[in-house]
Amino acid sequence: MRNVIAIDGPSASGKGTVAARVARELGWAYLDSGALYRLTALYAREQGVTWTDEAAVAKLATDLPVVFDGERVLLNGCDVGATIRSEAIGMGASKVAALPQVREALLQRQRAFAENGGLVADGRDMGSVVFPQACLKVFLTASAQVRAARRAKQLGIACGGAEFDRILADIQARDAADTNRSTAPLRQLPDAYLLNTDHMGIEEAVNQVLDWFNRACA
Ligand code: CDP
Repeated sequence: MRNVIAIDGPSASGKGTVAARVARELGWAYLDSGALYRLTALYAREQGVTWTDEAAVAKLATDLPVVFDGERVLLNGCDVGATIRSEAIGMGASKVAALPQVREALLQRQRAFAENGGLVADGRDMGSVVFPQACLKVFLTASAQVRAARRAKQLGIACGGAEFDRILADIQARDAADTNRSTAPLRQLPDAYLLNTDHMGIEEAVNQVLDWFNRACA
């Protein structure tokens, strides 16, 4: 698929920021697939459905009343953009994302984003399951320590204290859950370019992806 760039990677690697910037540079649409899993977790909590009830959560995922309106994310008409970013909902997203029926329920909804032109999609299984024919696949990562430091900075938390240790532990727990699950685990594909951003800023990462794009998708 000449019109799809798939960017996968672990939690807090910065892939969302890079993917959105690449999409803007190309004038393409951007899919934050993690948001769909977060929305499913939030919707289940609102409806009183436990995150492990596969059939019930999958039903909610199929019917997800979501509207993406520019920067805003509306669930049942309410702006939930900030709510879905909480650590609690992130953990819930990781739980519902391990259920095969839920992943199946969200598959067509994700593919539909590529029907009207170019798409940059970010997540855990963009290159392996959702868009295996993408013309460019990138595995964007950084060490857990660096990712924790970035998240701490976002939250205004000093490096090194107990709060920082908790962030690092959350990131490691999510890495383990996303990597070790049997359905659509997070992994670097043989045909994906590796982008390690340990010592790289956003600008440089965006330029690297655009450079690969020009070579692989032209
Ligand atoms: O922001 P962060 O990178 O921490 O997470 P996210 O991309 O918003 O995704 C939240 C959770 O959804 C992840 O921990 C994954 O378990 C799950 N997810 C997934 O399984 N497949 C995707 N394509 C995207 C997210």
